[in-house]
Amino acid sequence: MPVQRLDAVSGDITTQTLDAIVNAANSSLLGGGGVDGAIHRAAGPELLAACRLLGGCDTGDAKTTPGFALPASWVIHTVGPVWRGGDHGEPELLASCYVRSLEEADRVGARSVAFPAISTGVYGYPIEAAAEIAVVTVRGASTDVEHVRFVCFNEPTTAVYARLLA
Ligand code: APR
Repeated sequence: MPVQRLDAVSGDITTQTLDAIVNAANSSLLGGGGVDGAIHRAAGPELLAACRLLGGCDTGDAKTTPGFALPASWVIHTVGPVWRGGDHGEPELLASCYVRSLEEADRVGARSVAFPAISTGVYGYPIEAAAEIAVVTVRGASTDVEHVRFVCFNEPTTAVYARLLA
């Protein structure tokens, strides 16, 4: 089934009350800055303890933990590609983050999922190209997830998603 409802909001993903929120993590899954740091701070120390048991995560893959102190029931940790100019498989790896995250949502029975703009911060992926991949990949996915929300943390990101979803 395709996702029935796609929307984009400005805000902090840690406050989203959807079933699952997606973390833009690194391959260690042991925390970091950006949205990764925000999610770990909001979820509490149990999140890091749970992540330690996962044995890391490959770029383009996704692994799920409970949300602990977060309002969301689940955190789906995915590792986006570092932008290296666009001819090192970055588009395919970024698309895979969205596909694998939706597969993880289906596996745990999450019906609503919030995504940050994966790879567009520290990892340097141009926002327009990344958002296009996000929207096209989610729109084309066959999943039981009914609602996908793109949570934008800054105005440029909000503007790009708003235009793509108009
Ligand atoms: N809610 C929603 N989005 C957020 C939040 C938040 N609380 N904090 C940051 N963002 C946004 C950033 O503004 C950016 O648009 O998330 C997007 C992704 O940026 P990063 O968090 O830097 O993630 P990424 O570019 O994928 O780099 C991942 O950064 O934090 C480290 O451990 C992480 O090494 C990994 C790398």
